Amino acid sequence: MANRRLAPAAEQPQNFAFSPENAEWAQGQIAKYPEGRQASAVIPLLWRAQEQNGGWLPQKAIEAVADQLGMPHIRVLEVATFYTMFALEPVGRHWIQVCGTVPCHCCGAVELKEMLQARLGPSGHVSADGNFSWLEVECLGACCNAPMVQINQDYYEDLTPESLSRLMDDLAAGRPVTPGPQVDRSASAPLGGPDTLSDPALYDGSRVGAWRKRFEETRKDEGAADSGAKDEAASSEKRAATDPKPARPVAGRPVESAATDAPAQRAAAHQEPVKADEKVQASDKEHSTAGRAAEPAAPKAIKDLEPAGAEAGAQSSLPRDVPPPQPAASGVEAPAEPAPGADATASSKGRGRSKPATKPERT
Ligand code: FES
Repeated sequence: MANRRLAPAAEQPQNFAFSPENAEWAQGQIAKYPEGRQASAVIPLLWRAQEQNGGWLPQKAIEAVADQLGMPHIRVLEVATFYTMFALEPVGRHWIQVCGTVPCHCCGAVELKEMLQARLGPSGHVSADGNFSWLEVECLGACCNAPMVQINQDYYEDLTPESLSRLMDDLAAGRPVTPGPQVDRSASAPLGGPDTLSDPALYDGSRVGAWRKRFEETRKDEGAADSGAKDEAASSEKRAATDPKPARPVAGRPVESAATDAPAQRAAAHQEPVKADEKVQASDKEHSTAGRAAEPAAPKAIKDLEPAGAEAGAQSSLPRDVPPPQPAASGVEAPAEPAPGADATASSKGRGRSKPATKPERT
């Protein structure tokens, strides 16, 4: 890193002031920031002062910017000496900043500096013809193409002492030069050309076609599956029309009566309601598809109380405090037949429970 010092007093101008155009531009920059934050405009103002002064920043320009922004002189001097973009001494028409940070150092910056030292003399001094001056700076952000230099506003990369010397010859002679890599490299791509994303199928549309074809095949397969499902559904409907089945299994139902043989349906079909004696017969285990051996017979008390007109919607004559008969669940012990002469109400209350019908007497 080069020393950052102000130019000798003999080279410093006696005063500095922005030109009218630059003064107006500076006011526009300052106006970008809120009141009390005008110091944020220090770098653009220093840069414009350097451009106006022929490419370097004299002490009087630093002080003028500080006064305009209401900053102490030392604070603006700190900024000017920190950033190598500000030249503190006169520079040649082509100011060469050589990156000396590790990647460039390892890739040939040392040889570049030796060539510049031999051709131009020490850094910070303008060549005798006024064309060049050079300075070692820190990383300029083009490490992938190291070593590199910045000449005025442009980068020149992948340099060798020979290529940099030729470049300087062209600049001195006013011949056009090409910024960027000085070898067969495009931008920061690998030497010899890109070696990734090189498959034309990535951008020629052929893979898009492949995807479309895959989608079409998938859609075709799904269409075939849908067609199969539709055929199966149609077949089920046809079978249901010719061979109707009850919605629920017939197990446990009397074989003589269909599952849909409800009083309302019989009435709609102009059929007589099912008689009580027919219902008793239907519940006989010999006429049922279920295992009637495990199903208890209806208690006499309930059966006797069930009126023949119940199917026609008449009110049951069961007392209100007697629960309606419940179907016996599978595996539940059948209720004991009420003893002769026992109270019908007590018998009904004990139905479906495994507890003994009579409580043990206390002693
Ligand atoms: S190290 Fe030289 S540009 Fe980054």
